[in-house]
Amino acid sequence: MRNAFKWIVITVGSVIGVVGIAVIAVFVLSQRHFDQSYDIQVASVPISQDSATLALGEHLVQIRGCTDCHGPDLAGKPFMEDPKIAMLYASNLTSGKGGVAPNYTDEDWVRSIRHGVRPDGKPLLFMPSQEFFFLSDEDLGAMISYIKTLPPVDRELPRSSVGPLGRVLFLTGKLPLVSAEMINHEAPRPEVPPPGVTVEYGRYLALGCVGCHGLDLAGGRVPGAPPDWPMAANLTPAGNLKNWTEAEFIQTMRTGVKPNGEMFNAAMPWQNVAAMTDLELRAVWKFLKSLPPVEKGS
Ligand code: HEC
Ligand code: HEC
Repeated sequence: MRNAFKWIVITVGSVIGVVGIAVIAVFVLSQRHFDQSYDIQVASVPISQDSATLALGEHLVQIRGCTDCHGPDLAGKPFMEDPKIAMLYASNLTSGKGGVAPNYTDEDWVRSIRHGVRPDGKPLLFMPSQEFFFLSDEDLGAMISYIKTLPPVDRELPRSSVGPLGRVLFLTGKLPLVSAEMINHEAPRPEVPPPGVTVEYGRYLALGCVGCHGLDLAGGRVPGAPPDWPMAANLTPAGNLKNWTEAEFIQTMRTGVKPNGEMFNAAMPWQNVAAMTDLELRAVWKFLKSLPPVEKGS
């Protein structure tokens, strides 16, 4: 009896010990990524007060999805509040109380939006800079110019943090938290095609779709999405789009209602895409039509 008790104590003790070591390892290994310091050569982009630039900036902030996470006033909002996974707050970008604008230089804006790195060199969490790295100097400059003119909004948000399950998901590659790690910061600036109804310009605009629809745009699980999200649709000619016309595509993106009468799921940010001009939507359509058909899941 005594012996059996001793073994139970030893077994339970070892299990607790192993779990404890695993918890500490997960914390230490993930924290190393979050505490990594990035020393980045930041390019300067054209900043201007000119009304055409500000209008372009406002347009881009919407179609590139900034307002989706940072809110329509860009004054920030909670993005995910799950203590087990992560508490993520998209920052207040205005000059109000709790806003980052008063402390930001033009270089700081470029470093955070294009590189996913804070002014102190530490990585931002869940800010999808890997999508914005490809934006041209002119487009990024227009966005920053516009953001700098935002009316101040007082909104203080807690600092983002990652919970134990979020750290495991991050370390196993299931939760893309650190965009600074996905970017080759030294890579030469990618070439940006001139605006037009071309495959190349469509690809440039559709860089904002790959985060959910996948690099091949064939859809599937959205990385890091809450469990109740549907799969992103297959946008290659192997999906439903093969039966749509250009006019139906534009109509769908503008109204949120598909040719078969179905509404978009709330997970699909169609309101951003709806703000695209005809030229932009036609370019995206042309690009999607040019994709090789990929069966979902392949
Ligand atoms: C998927 C959601 C998402 C999208 C889309 C997004 N952001 Fe963010 N952004 C975040 C989160 C979350 C943070 C805060 C990260 C942190 O606290 O570590 C952030 C931080 C920032 C910061 C750093 C502010 C600070 O706290 O120092 C800037 C600047 C910024 N975003 C600008 C933009 C712009 C401009 C766009 C559009 C081109 C954009 N963001 C799109 C989620 C997003
Ligand atoms: C935040 C994630 C997200 C982003 C970004 C996103 N989508 Fe989606 N999209 C989804 C999800 C999820 C669905 C499936 C839900 C639905 O069809 O209602 C979807 C569905 C669609 C559909 C419907 C296709 C069908 O077969 O019914 C089209 C078209 C589409 N997206 C186009 C785009 C385009 C173009 C972009 C970029 C400009 C884009 N999406 C960006 C998440 C996203």
